[in-house]
Amino acid sequence: MYWLGIDVGTGGTRALLVDAQGVIVAGFTAAHEDIHMEKPFWAEQRPEDWWNATQHAIRGVLSEASVSGDQVKGVGFSGQMHGLVLLDAQNQVIRPSLIWCDQRSQPQVDRINQKVGEAQVLKYIANPVLTGFTLPKLLWVRDHEPKNYERTRKMLLPKDYVRFMLTGDFAMDVADASGTALFDVVNRKWATEFCHDLDIDTDLLPPSLECSDLAGKISASAAALTGLKAGTPVVAGAGDQAASAVGNGITEAGVVSCTIGTSGVVFAHMEEVAYDPKGRVHTFCHAVKGKWHVMGVTQGAGLSLQWFRNQLAPGTDYDELTNEASKSAVGAHGLIWLPYLMGERTPHLDAGARGGWIGITARHTRADLIRSVIEGVTFSLRDCLEIIEELGVHVESVTASGGGARSAFWRQMLADAFEKRIQILDSQEGSAYGAALLSLVGTGEYESVPAACNATIKTASSLVPRPHASATYRGLYEVYKGMYPALRPLFRLQNALG
Ligand code: XUL
Repeated sequence: MYWLGIDVGTGGTRALLVDAQGVIVAGFTAAHEDIHMEKPFWAEQRPEDWWNATQHAIRGVLSEASVSGDQVKGVGFSGQMHGLVLLDAQNQVIRPSLIWCDQRSQPQVDRINQKVGEAQVLKYIANPVLTGFTLPKLLWVRDHEPKNYERTRKMLLPKDYVRFMLTGDFAMDVADASGTALFDVVNRKWATEFCHDLDIDTDLLPPSLECSDLAGKISASAAALTGLKAGTPVVAGAGDQAASAVGNGITEAGVVSCTIGTSGVVFAHMEEVAYDPKGRVHTFCHAVKGKWHVMGVTQGAGLSLQWFRNQLAPGTDYDELTNEASKSAVGAHGLIWLPYLMGERTPHLDAGARGGWIGITARHTRADLIRSVIEGVTFSLRDCLEIIEELGVHVESVTASGGGARSAFWRQMLADAFEKRIQILDSQEGSAYGAALLSLVGTGEYESVPAACNATIKTASSLVPRPHASATYRGLYEVYKGMYPALRPLFRLQNALG
């Protein structure tokens, strides 16, 4: 028998088939349409496109593995977080989704803080409200598209919409719900008083579930479209960061992961809930029942390199880019990249931050440009790691995953710049693997998420910092850290110009 993990990502939807021991049998990714960016800092995708990609990915993985739907015993989910999906009374999508990196909602964030007070918000949800989160996006729709808001009967997150299309049932897991900014993270339930303060009808919210809980069964219509068997159990799953942490075995204290996808995340498990009083890292429910996690987020991680490739090296693949970058020197001859292409969360919490190269000279080459982009993203991830350590989390080693960590060049850079041992796992599947493990737990193959992780996840290799490179990065990181505060007032003026 097999279990299926589905990750509704930003670039595409991945379906991954594993057996009861967690051995990967096959994987299939169906690409999404490009993010639609009508204005700077706006980012939308069509939920219908995610659903099409999911059908394609499920059919693809079953065919690649020559496995039939009745051999699949359970389905689990992971998905890009924070995206706003609105459904009407007929369960039709009302408008494209404002996704996680959409930053248009600063006025709504300001209004929430004025109305409720930042200290009270922290009490309600253990986090500040950020433009990336779902709540201010919902209020943006209420302010700017009142007709769409009035038609809304349900608010879902990306993977919950896809799960709804597979099962016909509404649900949201506690990890993903934490990123809506409407969830009482400490008590693992909707923050109904906060909803009342903001005049939000709690009927819009689906039931919340722990991540390995059953959330429904594959419907007959979805079975016909995907090749899965009607009645197959589907678990709630988790937002992609908590799912990726499960896939990386970050389910106990002391282990930390760094995932480099479109965004970049440093993630630590917490036994007891704790939060940064400045709100620079997020405290969310973990996919492990009754546990939490803390994470720092870089908005423009893989996105920075993708932007470089699309704009300045079209048609070049990422291996060629990192190969070229390796021809530059550690520190890219002093060139610094600020990765704030979609504003920044950790540590600046500034939707209006802007990216760019600082310190370019006539001697810099394209190799330096590429290397500096990767180094700038890595520094931004070090910002996340430092705050997590400030919260008292002891970091011995960091497990690297995601597209960026597939590059040996980037992995060594993580070790050098973090000055930590970097662990690489046997499976580099991260969130899709975590989704599959959650389905193994939900269907009773393992008694808990940590038990599933202990039985299935193996470390393949590890690498250590090179002292020389670390010394260079230490110096450059200090300069990097000074850039944003110096430029912040100018970003304000620049944004005011439009
Ligand atoms: C996490 C976050 C991103 C998205 C996209 O808070 O916004 O990681 O989930 O992957």
